Amino acid sequence: MVVIPPILWISLWFFKKVTKAYEDYQAQEAVLSTTLQENLTGVRVVKAFARQDYEKEKFDKDNWLKYIKGKFLLLMHSLFWPLSDIVLGAQMLFGFIYAAFMAIDGRISVGDYVAYVGLVVWLIFPIRNLGRVIVQTSTGMVSYQRLMDITKQAREDLDGGAVQPTGPVRGEIEFRNVSFMYSDGTHDVIKDISFHIKPGQSIALLGSTGSGKTSLVNLLPRFHEYTGGQILLDGVELRDYSRKYLREQIGIVQQEPFLFSRSIRENILYGVGRRVTQEEIEAAAKAAAVHDVIASFPDGYNTVVGEKGVTLSGGQKQRVTIARTILKNPKILILDDSTSAVDTETEASIRKALDDLMEHRTTFIIAHRIQSVMRADLILVLDKGRVIQKGSHEELLAQFSGMYRKIYDIQTRIDEELEMEIARAN
Ligand code: CTP
Ligand code: MG
Repeated sequence: MVVIPPILWISLWFFKKVTKAYEDYQAQEAVLSTTLQENLTGVRVVKAFARQDYEKEKFDKDNWLKYIKGKFLLLMHSLFWPLSDIVLGAQMLFGFIYAAFMAIDGRISVGDYVAYVGLVVWLIFPIRNLGRVIVQTSTGMVSYQRLMDITKQAREDLDGGAVQPTGPVRGEIEFRNVSFMYSDGTHDVIKDISFHIKPGQSIALLGSTGSGKTSLVNLLPRFHEYTGGQILLDGVELRDYSRKYLREQIGIVQQEPFLFSRSIRENILYGVGRRVTQEEIEAAAKAAAVHDVIASFPDGYNTVVGEKGVTLSGGQKQRVTIARTILKNPKILILDDSTSAVDTETEASIRKALDDLMEHRTTFIIAHRIQSVMRADLILVLDKGRVIQKGSHEELLAQFSGMYRKIYDIQTRIDEELEMEIARAN
């Protein structure tokens, strides 16, 4: 009984120490994995900038730190185990010797002595194990906490929503003084934006990089929640629709095209919730001006893209994602800079196909070329999250001091110079 309090006290003291040491160790392991993962995914950048030695050194440093922290953790364990054994051993030694003298003096019988020794041995080992269990629990607690940090993250509510429409949307969209700030941001990236488009109309967003175009369109499928004002879809506040419904209604060609390491066919079919024929897939690919490229691969539409198959160029990837969205046939179409990686000629042919596609659906076009935005019903020119100009192509052209006119003049001048250059070369 006498040794139980010190053993508990020592165990709890080490429990705290080991918890801290193990947390440090795990955190360092995370640093190391991040370093490694970034080096592997960013290997091209590392090579292009000839930073192998730097990255190697960085890895060595992180790895060394992990080693040191691991060592410290082991040191803690290696101190605890002998320490608790010394305490328990000392108690046994003291008890055995003292009882032996008692037996010699005849105060207890030899039988009592043997019984005492047996009992102590029986009792000491559970006490010893109790201490070990307490200390080892600390590592389990740390791991459990780390897991809980992830599993306790709030899940996106896909289904909730005050209205549960059964049919497709019409596509009327109204922004009323909408502002938006990223949850980790410091200032509004969208400030007080208002506009109104009817079903089937198209709206173009033009503006310098970082002006908030992508942020604005990402509000529609509720990837983020707007922080001020109102967005109305068919007269109903966007928040009242479920995310699932919105995302079914909205087709978005994202700025950074992403393809899965699966066949091109699977990539085009991605997210299409109905049976489609090969003809439909090919029609979509033709509209996106990528059919010929796919047909030139030996495996055609079954060609696997990504690590295990062919690597598509940036423009080809972009066009496969356009084909995917065309096939989805959404009521609201968002094209976020989706022809930035294709040449002017291909862009023109995609634009033609998109023009057909844009009929009967509300379309958001983000582009840098005036040619791509000029036919939109409404053009918004954004700057630092604000609308600085708003109107049709003709209206905006007439504003001589406006940004739109400036961009137009620069782009037409470049085009003319190019044409002259080509004419001269011929
Ligand atoms: N931003 C942010 N957090 C994100 C994405 C963007 O804080 N997850 C910020 C950016 O730093 C930028 C602003 O939001 O200052 C607007 O970004 P974005 O909407 O992506 O700008 P675009 O107009 O789409 O720029 P680009 O033409 O380069 O695509
Ligand atoms: Mg963008």
